Amino acid sequence: MSERTVTAGPRVDAGAERGDETSEPSSLPLRGLPADEVLAEVRALRAADRPTHGGRLFAYVYDPAVPGLDELANSAYAESAHVNGLDPTAFPSLLAMENTLVGAAARLLGGGPGSTAPDAVGSVTGGGTESLILAVKAARDSRPEVAEPRLVVPATAHAAFAKAAHYLRVALDTVAVSAQTLRPDPADVAAAIRPETVLVACSAPSYAHGVIDPVEQIAAVAAERGVRCHVDACFGGWTLPYLRRLGVPVPPFDLGVAGVTSISVDLHKYAYAPKGVSVLLHRDPASRAPQFFAFAGWPGYTMVNPVISSTRSGGPIAAAYATVRHLGDDGYLDLARRTRAAVTGLAAAVRAVDGLRLLAEPESTVVCFTVSDPDLDLFTLVDELTARGWHTQPQFRYADLPASVHLTVTASVAPTVPDFGAALVDSVAAARAAGPVRLPADLLALVGSLDPDQLTPDLVATLATTLGLGSPAGGGSGVPERMAVVNTLLDAAPPALRERLLAEFVGLLQRPTY
Ligand SMILES: Cc1ncc(COP(=O)(O)O)c(C=O)c1O
Repeated sequence: MSERTVTAGPRVDAGAERGDETSEPSSLPLRGLPADEVLAEVRALRAADRPTHGGRLFAYVYDPAVPGLDELANSAYAESAHVNGLDPTAFPSLLAMENTLVGAAARLLGGGPGSTAPDAVGSVTGGGTESLILAVKAARDSRPEVAEPRLVVPATAHAAFAKAAHYLRVALDTVAVSAQTLRPDPADVAAAIRPETVLVACSAPSYAHGVIDPVEQIAAVAAERGVRCHVDACFGGWTLPYLRRLGVPVPPFDLGVAGVTSISVDLHKYAYAPKGVSVLLHRDPASRAPQFFAFAGWPGYTMVNPVISSTRSGGPIAAAYATVRHLGDDGYLDLARRTRAAVTGLAAAVRAVDGLRLLAEPESTVVCFTVSDPDLDLFTLVDELTARGWHTQPQFRYADLPASVHLTVTASVAPTVPDFGAALVDSVAAARAAGPVRLPADLLALVGSLDPDQLTPDLVATLATTLGLGSPAGGGSGVPERMAVVNTLLDAAPPALRERLLAEFVGLLQRPTY
């Protein structure tokens, strides 16, 4: 049994043990279980997860390692968990907290009193994806005369823009980035803008590489054509102002830039709030207006929603409020200092190893590297790091960019840098010793040419079984510990096939426990 597999979960025989009327397995116990027992189940299930704290997981989680912060956020969460953001007049506490968070974000990102965007307004959303969908919706609905709206993004823009385009039926125009700078040429962005373009977007910084797009130039070409420009600062937007104060060269990227009409920043990332909170800012109320949805044409309450969800828990918002106010400006500056020290240390560790190459010089809080030696297999290296307790994120090849390893670096990483460096050296040696993953040429050829529409559920199930995927029985993750073979196959698959395969695998994982 793998170390990440546990056997917790609903006790299927609970009824039988207590002599209940039925011994049928049931996820809904016939008689409720004691609180301590249920909590023990949750804890046992959690044991299968990657570690959220301690600086060993370089994606998904943001750990500032500030003593007492979790307890504070949890208490604030509990205070407001049952408050409903559906109606700000019924729960003014939530409205006040949201306005405070929006004000803090606006101040940090070039808006508010005394700035060039004094009328900036915003909304608290449930996450970066929701903020981006709403930025696209606001832009689309600000141009009702455009029958077939379009969105221009650099190829490095977050996948959430593609989701927004898909959900909102907006066509996506992707601008290639340079393999050297990982940035788009503003002239290419200008060339991609058409009369139907309702929004141009860019990143500050991008998720994959942590690179800041040329926001000033992109916003200028958008403004010249009368098109809105959104800056996706969801990922690192909260750290960039602090990095700048620490002397890191950060180009202008926020509402202070002429032509930037909206910007988003996730509080559940580098503001270190628990999950479920992002802020979407607009330059002025008129820009925000088309983001809202209102409906009075039914016999119930008039629904007025600034964001996608209607009923919203106050928990995440109260937790973010407590986190932001407790850490404060000085706290965030200190966390940015520690994060940057970790980034510098990790980049040095990568540079020190033969066969590894930084894909980009770290500009923000990401370290991204690739292999420069054909005998060193990137996906095997990732497995070796995992086996040593370091959870990195492999990224597949894209256009002329090679596959790479992504590290989202947070303040908690700083003390672990020397240990990571040593593990990296060991892992590279082990990956070299293991040699590259070699898949049968006919399998690779099949994956390279298979039409996604030829994938039948049976074929996917067979493939999943062969690769050891898709069986989360007992609360395990449903993926094998060593992923190099699977990753090599997925890396060889064209994006459309990879999307389909992974969607099918997730479908296999998401099966009800009865
Ligand atoms: C740049 C960027 N934009 C948007 C998102 C989407 O955010 P979320 O996962 O909170 O929906 C992310 C997530 O990593 C991101 O890095």
